[in-house]
Amino acid sequence: MLLKFPTNFLWGAATSSYQIEGAANIDGKGKSIWDTFSHTPGKIKNDENGDIAADHYHLFKEDIKLMADIKMSAYRFSIAWARIYPEGKGSLNQKGIDFYNKLIDELLNKDIKPLVTLYHWDLPQKLQDDGGWSNRDTSKIFCDYATTFVKKFSDRVNFISTLNEPAVFSIHGHADGYMAPGISDKNIFFSSIHNINLAHGYAIQSMRSIKPNLELGCVLNLSPSLPCSNSDEDTKATKIFDMYWNRAFLDPMYTGSYPAALEYKLKKYIQNDDLKNIHQKCDYIGLNHYQHSRVKADKDYLLGARVAYKDERPFGLDNQEELTSMGWEIAPNAYYDQIMELKNKYNNPNIYLTENGCAYSDKIEKDGSINDVKRIDYLKKYLSAVKKSIDHGAKIKGYMAWSLLDNFEWALGFEKRFGLIHVDFNNLKRTPKNSFYFYKNIIQENGFES
Ligand code: FCB
Repeated sequence: MLLKFPTNFLWGAATSSYQIEGAANIDGKGKSIWDTFSHTPGKIKNDENGDIAADHYHLFKEDIKLMADIKMSAYRFSIAWARIYPEGKGSLNQKGIDFYNKLIDELLNKDIKPLVTLYHWDLPQKLQDDGGWSNRDTSKIFCDYATTFVKKFSDRVNFISTLNEPAVFSIHGHADGYMAPGISDKNIFFSSIHNINLAHGYAIQSMRSIKPNLELGCVLNLSPSLPCSNSDEDTKATKIFDMYWNRAFLDPMYTGSYPAALEYKLKKYIQNDDLKNIHQKCDYIGLNHYQHSRVKADKDYLLGARVAYKDERPFGLDNQEELTSMGWEIAPNAYYDQIMELKNKYNNPNIYLTENGCAYSDKIEKDGSINDVKRIDYLKKYLSAVKKSIDHGAKIKGYMAWSLLDNFEWALGFEKRFGLIHVDFNNLKRTPKNSFYFYKNIIQENGFES
């Protein structure tokens, strides 16, 4: 059966600055917390770092040509804040602005719509030195950076997301320390949650006041939470986890209130008009989604509840279940459920699917091709779930595959390959995988044969 998508549906791919750009110390860029973290021994698998990554900074034209070859209509990427403001604030770095001007112009030349994310985890180190997200001033400084972005680029970019996955960088950056800035501290974690929400709200207000018709929102990683057993502890833990992972940002940003139990924990940080300032009209929710959250109670973990991370298998999942090379389950039904939850409980918003994809250890065949059948199968399954949600009334506007290129997968280094395009990190050669050609057909047909 041919699954057809709505007219004007955007088909594209996503990346983020630190994961692909490289050029970490070039043309005036300041250090970010990921530069610091990845150069701290023991933090990243094999002590790898993003100094060069996929060198997109120098190879962006080649990458955009590949996107244009298959007629992608959109490209989601993020701005390295420390390229624009090397110290997070203060003096602007013209060479950083020049780089994004060239990138954006090249995309527009090829009829590819730029979907910009202002913050995909690479906070300027200088701001971290002043307390990072636990410092309330950082929200205002982020707002200034967003304002500058709009002044410099909104003649050509009208789709802007404030933050990528605030739950992920607040939990893994400030509660368990698995990611940059590598902190595990209750007060820092709680104050960061609130200041990150404020940063979003201030930025939306300021950007909107400069240009009312921008398309603005936030990108959230949301996923249905399930207890890993039927014990009371795990059931309770699931509610707690759901609150931190799914509601801590979605609720204040899109409904104007924190879940009651979270509000209680944040009360010493919340000031008078904060919730009003956070709750701004947004034009869409950016949904990143990969799998269920299978939750277990864990007294030794700061949240008291957690899901598998690092090399653990999802808790409570059947041992026979096949996983991707991230150790993630393949659960298109969770994607459908998540989308429908947004539709039904969050007032049927416009939704952009800003990330979805899978990592596999792809092999290059003797003839140079990469036959990544599992990724093709994954795409079919997840896109069928998307189509079903559209048929059931969800307002899905586009799908961005994670990822355009193999890249630096944070604490896991270069081993986990998510790209539709293979990158040889020894010589930076790009080789489209078969999933890339499969995606080409989807774009051409605006759908696929299920
Ligand atoms: C998401 C991140 C993205 C990438 C994928 C696999 O949580 O936003 O940068 O790491 O996971």
